[in-house]
Amino acid sequence: MTLRTIESLGDLAGKRVIVRCDLNVPLKDGEITDDGRVRASVPTLRALTSAGARVIVTSHLGRPKGEPDPQYSLAPVAARLGELLGTDVAFATDTVGESAKAAVAALGDGDVALLENLRFNAGETSKDDSVRQAFARELAALGDAVVSDGFGAVHRRHASTAEIETLLPSAAGLLIAAELEVLDRLTANPERPYTVVLGGSKVSDKLGVIDHLLPRVDRILVGGGMLFTFLAAQGHRIGSSLLEEDQIPTVLRYLDEARERGVEIVVPTDVVVASKFGADAEHQVAAVDSIEDTPFGASGLGLDIGPETAAAFADAVRESKTVFWNGPMGVFELAPFAAGTQAVAQALTEVDGLGVVGGGDSAAAVRQLGFADEQFGHISTGGGASLEFLEGKKLPGLEALGWA
Ligand code: 3PG
Repeated sequence: MTLRTIESLGDLAGKRVIVRCDLNVPLKDGEITDDGRVRASVPTLRALTSAGARVIVTSHLGRPKGEPDPQYSLAPVAARLGELLGTDVAFATDTVGESAKAAVAALGDGDVALLENLRFNAGETSKDDSVRQAFARELAALGDAVVSDGFGAVHRRHASTAEIETLLPSAAGLLIAAELEVLDRLTANPERPYTVVLGGSKVSDKLGVIDHLLPRVDRILVGGGMLFTFLAAQGHRIGSSLLEEDQIPTVLRYLDEARERGVEIVVPTDVVVASKFGADAEHQVAAVDSIEDTPFGASGLGLDIGPETAAAFADAVRESKTVFWNGPMGVFELAPFAAGTQAVAQALTEVDGLGVVGGGDSAAAVRQLGFADEQFGHISTGGGASLEFLEGKKLPGLEALGWA
């Protein structure tokens, strides 16, 4: 690990330090429904305020289209950050404009300001290098140094994640360091058996990680919407369940490759089939070879792994020394289809080794199901970022910090 640390920035007292966090939290009616990413940002911010820095926090939220859009305002996050830090967090209503400049000018040593959503500026995510760099220069002009701590966004080549480091003295924050320590343990000599649990809706989102992990793990358990493409590839009729037909040849290749390598790809033996998508849907458990034999026929929708599969997955997880889990097993947001995700999450808390929850949806799922963060070896704040790391990709935001 060759990350530049905060200490390498020297004495920060009185210095204006821009901290790129990932405060991209889920919001419902203006309320934060999972503040995990805000909590994860606190240690670095505390370290900087204790050192007397004038802290300027930046982040994106959602995917606005390069202009202000109130539904993606970071204002609710400023309030939550203030509660967690136990101090007032000033909120600037723009990112590099008059409000931001005034907020920065008003900072005393140890104070914190949060700037409005970076993605309200087209330059943040622009594909045009010169446009992105011009925005990075405007942002850099607000500070004396930059600390990059938004692990969830390090796979993005954006102005605030990968350009600004070329303009100011820069270092990685404590969250990025902690995330990399765990992800490194998953890649360099993981303790065996090593099991990866993959869920979520699309196989196509997981191709890179399956390709890269197949030679490195002992088992891959397949749940979530993507399981139905595996079942279809094995010749099962899957009713109206989610299917990526164009991925069937790839799935068949994975199944062959796994057989040759002696890696188990474990596909469910039973699923929960529903009459429609909704909490009030009729539903029943079906073996994978009789999905269309329920009263819902070919219009039945598979929305969770079944109880036999959940028990088998839970056993496989519990017997492992290293587990990485990305993607819910079913539509956990709807109570009738949460049992599979619940069972895997419970088993992960019982792993005698390293159990990692990777990212966005899976992290939200375990919290929504009532688990506490401390019950797991690690809950990553990065969904896409942790997957791309495990795919062995070079991540622009880490390269900018000297990670090789
Ligand atoms: C995430 O939620 O994975 C990160 O915040 C990155 O967001 P993005 O996919 O919109 O870049």
